[in-house]
Amino acid sequence: MTDHGLIAPHGGRLNPREVHGDAARALEEKARALPAIALNSRELADLELLANGGFSPLDGFMTQAQYRGVVDAMHLPDGLPWSIPITLSISRDDANRIKGDVALTDASGTPLAVMTVAEQFEYDREHEARQVYRTTEDKHPGVAALYAQDDVLIGGPVQVFRRAGDASFPEYRLDPAQTRAAFAARGWTRVVGFQTRNPVHRAHEYIQKCALEIVDGLLLHPLVGDTKADDIPADVRMECYKVLLDTYYPKDRVLLSVLPAAMRYAGPREAIFHAIMRKNYGCSHFIVGRDHAGVGNYYGTYDAQRIFAEFDARQLGITPLFFEHSFYCKKCEGMASSKTCPHAAEDRVTLSGTQVREFLRDGIEPPHEFSRPEVARVLIAAERAKV
Ligand code: ADX
Repeated sequence: MTDHGLIAPHGGRLNPREVHGDAARALEEKARALPAIALNSRELADLELLANGGFSPLDGFMTQAQYRGVVDAMHLPDGLPWSIPITLSISRDDANRIKGDVALTDASGTPLAVMTVAEQFEYDREHEARQVYRTTEDKHPGVAALYAQDDVLIGGPVQVFRRAGDASFPEYRLDPAQTRAAFAARGWTRVVGFQTRNPVHRAHEYIQKCALEIVDGLLLHPLVGDTKADDIPADVRMECYKVLLDTYYPKDRVLLSVLPAAMRYAGPREAIFHAIMRKNYGCSHFIVGRDHAGVGNYYGTYDAQRIFAEFDARQLGITPLFFEHSFYCKKCEGMASSKTCPHAAEDRVTLSGTQVREFLRDGIEPPHEFSRPEVARVLIAAERAKV
């Protein structure tokens, strides 16, 4: 626990890898003389989470021992749980060129950080895919991104002197120290984190509010890094969250902020990863519903809940709150799940992603039992703006 009674960060303390002021200027000067590695958008997102402490206790891209521990056993060498590799790949040509420190830049060549390259190492993409994604199919978007990586991984600590260019949603882009300060200012100690890459529909709202009944506050924490092309863009989603919160949530019980991470679609392993990051942001609890971070049919509906049993709850620290598939039931006249509703499938309002997309494309609001009308209107307007 911290001074304010909030949960301690993963590993005990936040480890933001950002330097400021004179130290930042000196580091930038140094970077200009170093060989440069340009990061892609996913790597830039990872760099931001290293900079802001969201990846605490990591101090940089993973070394070989960290990588192997995470891929094969879901733990860092010091025994802390960690489920997703945080890696930086480079070409063989670059591997031959690089001897010591490197400058990390954005796509336009603007230097952002200095990395002390502790080691270069070979890795087996198929092995990583099987372990992390439970499939080697490149139809899986996370596996496709892995297969597109370069041949050699480099590991070592980073020092960031400039945040990457993606400064979208600046007023919602709070670092872990800032969300923690916001929770402390509100007197919250028990905070539930909600990961999402979708608009908040009635089922999401229901499970958030069930959780809110037993904790002090909700961190609505949409992921705004890379998502797959058919996911709803982050700017549209942010509009949805704002209209929803304005109308249906008590203002003093919710904080809306964004998570800069890229989506991996790694299902169970990503649920652990999502929970660890939210612990760093100060959440004591984390919601895991149906098919968390899943894609297609790669994971069982509740695999992302079951995986928590593979960890020592005290080491993980953050408490998962599991929810069954939720829906509106016409006979119950309210939101429910199979844990609370005895009625038949035909009494329940459930829509597939495809059905929802069809409604929106045709300019029709999905049933209000599925989605709040204010949210539906934002989504329909966004569909219209596309054509
Ligand atoms: S995710 O990829 O970020 O997990 P999404 O934004 O749809 O996707 O889900 C956010 C959270 O809500 C996840 O924990 C997910 O399991 C949960 N969830 C989504 N839909 C439902 C539902 N109908 N019933 C219960 N939980 C749900």
